[in-house]
Amino acid sequence: LENGLARTPPMGWMHWQRFRCLIDCEIYPDECISDKLFRTMADHMVDDGYLAAGYEYIMIDDCWSAKERDSNGRLQPDPDRFPYGIKNLSDYIHSKGLKFGMYADYGTKTCAGYPGSILHLEQDANTFAEWEIDYLKFDGCYSDWQFVDVGYIQMSKYLNATGRPIVYSCSWPAYQEPNDMKSNYTSLAEACNLWRNWDDIDDGWANVTGILDWFSANQDRIAPFSGPGHWNDPDMLIIGNYGLSFEQSKAQMAIWAVMAAPLIMSVDLRTIEPQFRDILQNKDVIAVNQDPLGVMGRLVLKRNNIDVWTKPLLAKKKGGRAYAIGIMSRRVDGYPYRLGFTLKELNITNTKGFHVKDLFNKSQKSYSVSDSETIFLRVKPTGGILLFVTPK
Ligand code: DGJ
Repeated sequence: LENGLARTPPMGWMHWQRFRCLIDCEIYPDECISDKLFRTMADHMVDDGYLAAGYEYIMIDDCWSAKERDSNGRLQPDPDRFPYGIKNLSDYIHSKGLKFGMYADYGTKTCAGYPGSILHLEQDANTFAEWEIDYLKFDGCYSDWQFVDVGYIQMSKYLNATGRPIVYSCSWPAYQEPNDMKSNYTSLAEACNLWRNWDDIDDGWANVTGILDWFSANQDRIAPFSGPGHWNDPDMLIIGNYGLSFEQSKAQMAIWAVMAAPLIMSVDLRTIEPQFRDILQNKDVIAVNQDPLGVMGRLVLKRNNIDVWTKPLLAKKKGGRAYAIGIMSRRVDGYPYRLGFTLKELNITNTKGFHVKDLFNKSQKSYSVSDSETIFLRVKPTGGILLFVTPK
C-alpha cells in the first residue's frame, strides 16, 4: 500500500501469542488484556532498549473490546479492563515515543467472539482515527473467505479517507491459502502494508519450521510482492517464551530477518531472559531485516537437513551486492554439524571474493573467501546462523 508507511518491515510488540485472550483480571491482574498490560509493556519497550533497537509499535490484538457496541454503534473497550478509554492509552503510548496499534475483524465477530466490523467499516475506521492509532491489524474470522478481499479493500479506502497515517495489516490470505485458494497478491500489495499469509504461530519449534515450509514452498509466488510499503508476514516472533531454545531463537530471528518479515515480538518483556533480549536486539541482524531494498530472501539450498536462505541487500560495491545468508538446522543429532557450501552454489559470485561475518558471533572476526572456496560452519542442532557477505 503506497501510503508512505512501512517502508521497511514494521517492528513492534503484540500481545496475542503470549497473552492470548486472558481477560480475568481478578485472578491474573498482571497478565490480563488491560490498560495496565499495555502501559507496562510500553514502559519496558522504552526502558529496556527495544525502541532504540527499532521496535516502535505496541499493538493490542483480540479481546480488548466490550461484548457489545455502544448505543451509537461504536466500538468501545471493555470498561473494567480499559477504565480510561482507548484514547487515553493511545496518548500514553505516544508520550513514550512509541506508536500504537489496534485490532479489529472484518467478519461478523472477531475470532474470540467480540463485535466484528462488517456493517461498520467506515464508522470503525473513523473511531480508530479518533483514537489516533498508527496501525490496524484486520482479522478475518466469521467472514466469507472466498470473497473477503472486497471488504478489506473497502476498509483500506476508509482508513485512507480518515487522513490519519495508519499501517494496515490484512489477514485475508491466512483464511484463503489454508483453504487451497490462491490469494490475489497484486491487490494485497495495493491495499495493505502487510498481510498474514498463513496459519498462526504457536509457541513451539514445529510451528516455526511448519511456517517456513509453507513460505519456502510458495516463495516464487509470494516473494515478488514483498517490498517497501508491502510485506509478507509469517507471524510473530516467539523468542523469549517457553517453546524455543536459545539456538532455535537465533534460527527464527535469522530466517525472519532474511525473509524481510515484520519483527513483531510477543513475549513478556518484564521477565524475558537477557540472552533472548540480546537476540531480539541484535543490531546487525535487525539491519539485515530492515535493509532498504526490502527483498524477501529465499530458500536456495537444502543440504544435510539444513536449510540455507539468501537475501540480496542494498549495500553494493564495485564487485556487486552484499548478501545475508540465513542458516537453519533441522538436525537433532546432538553435535554441531559441519556444513560445507560455496557461495557460488548459492548464486553469490564475485571474481575478487567476499568478506564473511557471522552476525550472532561477535567474538569471531570476519574472514575472506573466494566464491568457489568451501565455507565450513558448525551448525548446532535446530540452530540458526546469519552471515553477512560483502564483495571485496
Ligand atoms: C487469528 C489471528 O491470525 C491471530 O494472530 C490472532 O489475531 C487471533 N485471530 C485473535 O483472535
